[in-house]
Amino acid sequence: MSSHAPRRSRRWRRTALALISGGVLATALLQPTSPATADDPLPYQDPSLPTAQRVADLLGRMSLAEKIGQMTQAERIDVDADTSLITDNYLGSVLSGGGSVPDPNTPEAWADMVDRYQEAALATPLGIPLLYGVDSVHGHGNLQGATVFPHNIGLGATRDPALVEKIGHITAEETRATGPQWAFAPCICVARDDRWGRTYESYGETPQLVESMETSIDGLQGKPGQLDRSDHVLASAKHFAGDGLTSYDESAAGTGAYPIDQGIDRVSRAEFARLALAPYVPAVKKHHVGTVMPSFSSTDFNGGDTDDAVKMHANQELITGWLKEQQGFEGFVISDWRAIRQLPGTYAEQVEASVNAGVDMFMEPIQAPNNPDGWDVFIPTLTQLVEDGDVSMDRIDDAVSRILTAKFELGLFEHPLTDRTHLDQVGSKAHHQVARRAASESQVLLRNQQRTLPLKSHQDVYVAGSNADNIGNQAGGWTLTWQGGSTNVIPGTTILDGIEQAAHGKVVYSEDASARIPRGSAGVVVVGETPYAEGFGDVGGPQWAYDPGDNGVPRPEQTMQLSDADTQAVKTVCARTVSCTVLVVSGRPMIIPPGLLNQIDALVASWLPGSEGAGVADVLYGRRPFTGKLPVTWPRSVAQEPINIGDKHYHPLYRYGFGLSTRR
Ligand code: GLC
Repeated sequence: MSSHAPRRSRRWRRTALALISGGVLATALLQPTSPATADDPLPYQDPSLPTAQRVADLLGRMSLAEKIGQMTQAERIDVDADTSLITDNYLGSVLSGGGSVPDPNTPEAWADMVDRYQEAALATPLGIPLLYGVDSVHGHGNLQGATVFPHNIGLGATRDPALVEKIGHITAEETRATGPQWAFAPCICVARDDRWGRTYESYGETPQLVESMETSIDGLQGKPGQLDRSDHVLASAKHFAGDGLTSYDESAAGTGAYPIDQGIDRVSRAEFARLALAPYVPAVKKHHVGTVMPSFSSTDFNGGDTDDAVKMHANQELITGWLKEQQGFEGFVISDWRAIRQLPGTYAEQVEASVNAGVDMFMEPIQAPNNPDGWDVFIPTLTQLVEDGDVSMDRIDDAVSRILTAKFELGLFEHPLTDRTHLDQVGSKAHHQVARRAASESQVLLRNQQRTLPLKSHQDVYVAGSNADNIGNQAGGWTLTWQGGSTNVIPGTTILDGIEQAAHGKVVYSEDASARIPRGSAGVVVVGETPYAEGFGDVGGPQWAYDPGDNGVPRPEQTMQLSDADTQAVKTVCARTVSCTVLVVSGRPMIIPPGLLNQIDALVASWLPGSEGAGVADVLYGRRPFTGKLPVTWPRSVAQEPINIGDKHYHPLYRYGFGLSTRR
């Protein structure tokens, strides 16, 4: 994005923009709007002109309806059966929510779907192309066949910014080749309380670690000026700000509400600036992130009752004042999923507050078909607010200019349809090799008595545990479906597959350790969590998932404790093997009781390694050394949460940054 221009020249740019738009507006009013011809394009259709000039020219030609349409994002389900809705409402964007995929869910079908929606957008009088957004948060996870990488918490453990940039680039390539030009990633949240269901979407508990991983933005977007390439997408720094700073609400636990996700940041302004705002400075100034998504959460800098809490989606001081004016953010702000409906007041008051706070585009999917309650209400509501003077035309023009700028810089006016050059790279061997390396580098060795690890390949090995042979569990949330799932199957290898490939001795697998354990075997027990997303992952959060794949069957409550089955498997295996290694496949630390820990010879934090469990086996067998470092503090008990490096009383089981190495 062009936000790298120094402040002074930005002012000149704005002046120029005003002059141009005035001049162009006068010209447009004076001259008949003769249809463009290929060899005589209108200014906005002329790629040789500066983006600011093209934006000004196009803005001058747009009606209020066309402008508000650009500020509106629908979900694919709303328009898939009738794409004329895109044309007739001048919609500027469509998204896939988690798990909202074409049928069949293939690279070609994705590209065909996005192009079909694009054709509808191009059929509007001004032919403004559509932006398609998707949660490519660990690869293009919605797409069957995409390369699925470790989630951010594992990437934070790698301490490898160059690798994270490479993963961002591969993610962009596989995303754009299948149609979407925009990824709602990366989450630059700083996770402070591991009871939060989105801890795994965070690179870690310190802003410094999170900032070092913002190379993912460079991987996704490329360098300024490269957004129009077929291997780059617009990125979205989220969720602005303080999504990982919310405090746990004990009264909400077990009630079906979210005890911590989307909660309130009860911190001082200084603490908020240090932990929540800090990562957005380099995201804007150094990495030129194209969009920012506000958080569902609120801030309450005064402490005490929640009446002072201000929802981020209505926080004009932070969105407009701090992000846009102070930091010079020139991209656009996209609201989160129907998030403005959490604001106080009527829907009109919610729209007015969020638009005037500085939100530019509105993710307003229709939840109940045939029941106007999404973007179909947003458009007339905002139109009325403008007509009544409650939202200024300047605010509308600012929002639309930002959105159009992104579309011009993505090259969508010149190349609106999917460039399928890299389609055959989706899920390629080369991409999976990077995923395997990332899985290896994300492993953190916490305990290694008598140098249990690396295992000897000639050893017989006995493998048990709920997560040893479950690629759905090792991939986690935002995979094929919103919540992810234990029955999800994606291309790749499980940890058991990796062990079977690496071991030359006999391998026995028994998930519950009920099978006989051959004498002399080394034991490996892979324990951990089942997939979840957002508040459904909160400790004490709701057990039910809206994900149709779950058919409404309640899933295990997330507790940060090992399941009884996993605990028993550890006890059984560790009692009867010559060595006992436990791997924890989870989105956050899990509690290892002292009585269990002293039965374990080697303990590894595996996080959510993604599609290449073989990468975990690579470090187990010494093909790669253990190099990972804890991205978050590992507590002794849930009662210690939140616990973070720098706390006055800090006695974790393993401290932030800890990790043993087996490097020779
Ligand atoms: C969700 C998430 C956000 C995601 C968006 C679109 O509610 O909060 O991270 O990008 O909806 O799926």
